[in-house]
Amino acid sequence: QFHLMKTDLLKGKTVVVTAGGTQEAIDPVRFIGNKSSGKMGYAIAEQAALAGARTILVSAPTHLEVPYGVEFVPVQSACDMQKQVEAVYEECDAVIMAAAVADFRVAEAAERKIKKMEHMSLELVKNPDILKGLGEKKTHQKLIGFAAETNDVIEYGRAKVRNKNLDMLVANDVSKENAGFNVDTNEVTFIYPGEQITNLPLMSKQDVAKRIIAAVAEL
Ligand code: CTP
Ligand code: CA
Repeated sequence: QFHLMKTDLLKGKTVVVTAGGTQEAIDPVRFIGNKSSGKMGYAIAEQAALAGARTILVSAPTHLEVPYGVEFVPVQSACDMQKQVEAVYEECDAVIMAAAVADFRVAEAAERKIKKMEHMSLELVKNPDILKGLGEKKTHQKLIGFAAETNDVIEYGRAKVRNKNLDMLVANDVSKENAGFNVDTNEVTFIYPGEQITNLPLMSKQDVAKRIIAAVAEL
């Protein structure tokens, strides 16, 4: 199959890819999650490995198969993901943050299953911004972020590139059909520091992944 073609684009490089939607525990049997399927991140990890990179996939739970030749690090919450990514940050050349990281977690997850009651509220606290933290201590690494927006995609995207000290942001408008969550296609824009942007047409996530890996190799 053409999409499984090997190249040497990232030979000798170490790439960390995050994927999936983090799960924030409420009690031992429940969590707060999001609609990410992990498909985009897994496709990127597959292409990074095919491009010859040592590829470490730090993934929140998904229903996907781990791509061939990829080192797999399973995680659940945003805090777990942060710990595992930071553990390999020094030795890696690029971090591609395709994970949908929950912005909040439950302040204190219950140790026992919460019983049904008439009223219920949960106190949420802010999660660490993993990518921003990496941006603050960046030395030689290239940092690639993702942003799914419903409006003002380029404007919000540029702000994220600046605030998180990114080398590239993959932005998509999830209000468009066939782009974003749980579909096999995506229509994205690469946003770089400064003014440069690259609009890609609607294509398979497999092809988007190949374009992302080519762009990372350029960086
Ligand atoms: N991200 C992260 N840690 C978080 C939240 C987001 O590392 N706690 C990363 C995502 O993996 C993504 C990028 O930051 O690569 C942008 O995520 P997004 O949710 O679009 O941005 P936020 O900064 O969370 O802003 P908002 O959700 O308010 O748009
Ligand atoms: Ca967010």
